Amino acid sequence: MRIAIRGFGSVGQGLAEVLRDEGDRIRREESVDVRIVAAEDSSGSAADPDGIEPAELLEAKSEGPLASGRWTASIEDVDYDVLVEATPTDVEGGEPGMSNIREALSSGTHVVTSNKAPLALSYRELTELARENGVELLFEATVGGGMPLINLSRRCLAGNEVTSIHGVLNGTCNYILSRMAVEGLSYEQVLSDAQELGVAEADPTYDVEGLDTALKLVILADAVMGLSCSYDDVEVEGITGITQEALRLAGEDNMKIKLVGTVHDSRIEVGPRLVPSDHPLDVPGVLNAATLSTGLAGDITVTGMGAGSIETASAILSDLLSIPRA
Ligand code: HSE
Repeated sequence: MRIAIRGFGSVGQGLAEVLRDEGDRIRREESVDVRIVAAEDSSGSAADPDGIEPAELLEAKSEGPLASGRWTASIEDVDYDVLVEATPTDVEGGEPGMSNIREALSSGTHVVTSNKAPLALSYRELTELARENGVELLFEATVGGGMPLINLSRRCLAGNEVTSIHGVLNGTCNYILSRMAVEGLSYEQVLSDAQELGVAEADPTYDVEGLDTALKLVILADAVMGLSCSYDDVEVEGITGITQEALRLAGEDNMKIKLVGTVHDSRIEVGPRLVPSDHPLDVPGVLNAATLSTGLAGDITVTGMGAGSIETASAILSDLLSIPRA
């Protein structure tokens, strides 16, 4: 399987690390050779139709922009089976991911993406484009990092109607609120730690103002509940107004304040909510948790690493391996 990676930041590099470290095992166990033939960052691209060793690619990236590396070919020069679209999310129009995804699908190339905005803005259009061209558009990595929600619902819960979703879907906010509550630290102090951890978005206002959770909820509502909704349908409130005093008072009542996203009765909301301390959504640090209420299987709660380079690469890898091979 030849892949091209557009967006060689935390997620793209995470995938290269996984292929460097686990490539042999994956080849052996899955009988598939996932080969990177091109990678692109904001400087340009590196490509080789015979494949680029992930270790070499990562080394070149650590030395500077990809375009100044040792490869003379570029992404336009090589053929590939799957585009891994991992450019940063931009909610104003979804570019450059939107054009990258449209272009790949239109030319009959499968797409696996971690980029939320194109899906949250144009879910119907993009899934229809994939269908018309007979290719896959897979996006487990857009929601909950390594935590499987979309594939869980589509495969393991096939036949179930998902009637509502409640989730803590932003690791940055959960990390900030957890540390403010437990250690009494200020909002600003913890936000900068979250940025250093590499969990926060390139623009952390996406996290703390609830936009990132809203994008994820829209994708879940479309993909898991079959609603036809868009980002503009979400009522959003972030965590910037949450004070240490509010967290302390909640703690006195054995409650936590969490940024919770809900889809219920076709309403999509994001906002700070009180959650009892022993509730399934009471997860610490950068963890995410989501409860899917289903018609047949009851409530299913999943907890896991909602962010992180390797964890998100895990979701991308699982999507790659699920693409039917000729
Ligand atoms: N910034 C996001 C978070 C990354 O904190 O959850 C994963 O989407």
